[in-house]
Amino acid sequence: MGKPKVVLGVSGGIAAYKACELLRRLTESGHDVRVVPTAASLNFVGEATWAALSGNPASTEVWETVHEVPHVRIGQGADLVVVAPATADMLAKAAHGLADDLLTNTLLTARCPVVFAPAMHTEMWEHPATQENVATLRRRGALVIEPAVGRLTGKDTGKGRLPDPEEIFEVCRQVLRRGVAAPDLAGRHVVISAGGTREPLDPVRFLGNRSSGKQGYALARTAVARGARVTLIAANTALADPAGVDVVRVGTAVQLREAVLKAAPDADVVVMAAAVADFRPAEYAGGKIKKKDGEDPAPVALVRNPDVLAEISADRAREGQVVVGFAAETDDVLDNGRAKLRRKGCDLLVVNEVGEARTFGSEENEAIILSSDGSEIPVPYGPKEALAEAIWDQVTQRYMSRRA
Ligand code: CTP
Repeated sequence: MGKPKVVLGVSGGIAAYKACELLRRLTESGHDVRVVPTAASLNFVGEATWAALSGNPASTEVWETVHEVPHVRIGQGADLVVVAPATADMLAKAAHGLADDLLTNTLLTARCPVVFAPAMHTEMWEHPATQENVATLRRRGALVIEPAVGRLTGKDTGKGRLPDPEEIFEVCRQVLRRGVAAPDLAGRHVVISAGGTREPLDPVRFLGNRSSGKQGYALARTAVARGARVTLIAANTALADPAGVDVVRVGTAVQLREAVLKAAPDADVVVMAAAVADFRPAEYAGGKIKKKDGEDPAPVALVRNPDVLAEISADRAREGQVVVGFAAETDDVLDNGRAKLRRKGCDLLVVNEVGEARTFGSEENEAIILSSDGSEIPVPYGPKEALAEAIWDQVTQRYMSRRA
């Protein structure tokens, strides 16, 4: 099998320079990349850079390399087309089927998955014209990644930044791996909690846990690649924001509960992948707790934290909402998992066996997905992304069976 063929479309925005890094990641990971820049984008990054980094000619107009590759072939032969950055103008052209240069021609001839990573000023992104164009493209099966929030050109900040090239690359990798054009979570809003809460004892100490947040982030990345709008409620994670994800940062279980309850009414799916502390110190010392010579420390009294999963399962914020929980067990994994599924009242419970050297912080995971309808699906040891995909498969199945 040859290398997967990727077309990298670049339209004319200042973020075009970030596409160089995306191109590098794509070529280094074994993809055959053909860059198709628009004429306007050559003001930001020149043809020579694209040709040198991709090892392929980079043409802008349909007639330029006709003797080598007729323009229709580029789109027809691609396994993936990714446009990064996609300007408001490019989204408008794509939505209306214009074909006045090589990139727009390529978009019309491509039959593979198409990913747009928009970047523009907040006002342009929020304009009804752009939003309608985005909706049109999504309805037709394209994956339009939500821009990131942050510093834009100049001094202004807001929504409209191109996500990190590394994270756009992750989306491309996921889409290529799935190999299907239709994003099956399109139109769905999923809320995912990830990481581990920290319950402060004093300004410098906390009760915490070993959760890295990697499983929750894998769920967020894969959901974006399947077309979902994703809100990620991240508790104390040190991971890069995934592309296209709205990240809400929290610290404690109480803050996490607040953020989940705020997002849940608008969610089709809520996945509680965070390790939420069951207890918190009954008292918070406003100043650092000091040791006293010759005295043993006072015992730390704990109180119960709210059980967020049980609460949102019992009190569904939206009809038909699917609630997914996780269970980390060290013994009697399956029995404990079945009992927990009933106790928590969620639709799916992902049970995995944990220990100091297992699961936490690792890239791999192994689990059984227990369903309230009685099915028990084992997911073999493998990347956390594979488990994430298996969870989304179960979620989409539930939607399909409800509709039937
Ligand atoms: N969870 C939650 N709120 C809590 C504790 C846990 O929402 N206060 C969620 C977790 O996000 C996870 C699931 O509940 O999805 C399972 O958590 P776990 O700690 O394994 O279950 P517990 O109810 O704490 O059971 P036990 O400690 O007895 O194993």
